[in-house]
Amino acid sequence: MAQTDNTSNPFKLTGYWGREYFCDREHETGKLLEAIYAQRPIAIYAPRKMGKSGLIQHVFQQKELKNFSTLYVDLFETTSLEGLLKLLSLEILNRFEQKQEKVIRQLMTWFSALRPQLSINPQNGQPEIGISLSKTEEGYPSLKALADYLEKQKQPVVLALDEFQQISTYGGHELEAEFRGIFQNMKNTRLIISGSTQNLLVPMFTDPGRPLYQAVDYLKLDYLKREDYAQFILQHFEKSGKNISEETIYFILDWSRSHTYYTQLLCNRLYSSGYQHPGIREVNLVIEELFDERQMIFQQIRNSLTKAQFSLLQAIAAADHAEQISSSDFVQKYQLGAHSTVLKNLHNLIRDEYVLEEANPEKSFYRVYDVLLGRWLQKLYQLNKKN
Ligand SMILES: Nc1ncnc2c1ncn2[C@@H]1O[C@H](COP(=O)(O)OP(=O)(O)OP(=O)(O)O)[C@@H](O)[C@H]1O
Ligand SMILES: [Mg+2]
Repeated sequence: MAQTDNTSNPFKLTGYWGREYFCDREHETGKLLEAIYAQRPIAIYAPRKMGKSGLIQHVFQQKELKNFSTLYVDLFETTSLEGLLKLLSLEILNRFEQKQEKVIRQLMTWFSALRPQLSINPQNGQPEIGISLSKTEEGYPSLKALADYLEKQKQPVVLALDEFQQISTYGGHELEAEFRGIFQNMKNTRLIISGSTQNLLVPMFTDPGRPLYQAVDYLKLDYLKREDYAQFILQHFEKSGKNISEETIYFILDWSRSHTYYTQLLCNRLYSSGYQHPGIREVNLVIEELFDERQMIFQQIRNSLTKAQFSLLQAIAAADHAEQISSSDFVQKYQLGAHSTVLKNLHNLIRDEYVLEEANPEKSFYRVYDVLLGRWLQKLYQLNKKN
């Protein structure tokens, strides 16, 4: 396939590139701004790759926040309270302190285990101050010290803690209790937290026995509306003189289930493959290319599951929207064996994020979490099915 310049590809796959490349989310943006203004902490939750981080960055760009300072911290890589405190303190100082001496002074008051290091940059001969933290366990700044620092800023601060569910993996609920105290006492600082539904976040706020029970507003990030997404896709193809039919666009949205990252991925590849009139045939070529690239990963997933788990995952993929998984019909149709084993495997597949449980007021259903994996399993099933 011919390749065009990918740097100008309007279907972004990482980060936030400005409102031009961001589809809709007006309602959600309004909700977040409202919570910020009303000083209510708010939690965004959604399955992975739906657009949580992008939405936070989008909100940060709004003119309504021009008198606020914004700070985004991604907790994804933190595995301990120490990690969180280190990351938070360095991010806070990077954002709010221009002068290195002030940074050092502030860090000294926070970290008794701090080792500032002076060195000369070999490239430009300028002195540079590096921060190293000794490995001792003592002397991390407390959450309260960090919160107090934010409270003292001239402009009110909007602090976004992304992948907040990580804190529940550090062990114990004490930290949640500490956060509760902080949420309640913040006056100058507004808080947005974000994480994935199945990934520990929701129970933190909905379990009456947990310290953060009902401590925040919620914003569930749903699928983008198909019509809005279709318009967005059309507009970006047309802008570069490419011609794409409505039928092709809806084929893309159906195939990717409008799950933001997967829709973006398909559009990104289709756009950069250089077709002037991409149709369904071209979309299918892109899909095959994506399957080829992921073949090894999919096989590894297959090998990491038991045979019964894999059969269940494939059955869920084949059924597309699987509803009554433990019903006799479903179990018999896909030859899944004992009901109790099916339920146990389903539980494990949900826990390990192979399967997504989608609940809506009418009914809930299950699907393969990773859209590409699900579509590949569907293809595999169709290929091997006996009748
Ligand atoms: N409204 C939008 N319009 C266009 N692209 C979007 C939109 N929201 C998100 N994206 C794109 O979708 C992908 C996933 O978005 P993002 O990383 O924000 O999701 P996430 O929910 O934070 O994912 P994760 O759970 O992996 O952290 C990215 O490629 C991002 O650029
Ligand atoms: Mg994210």
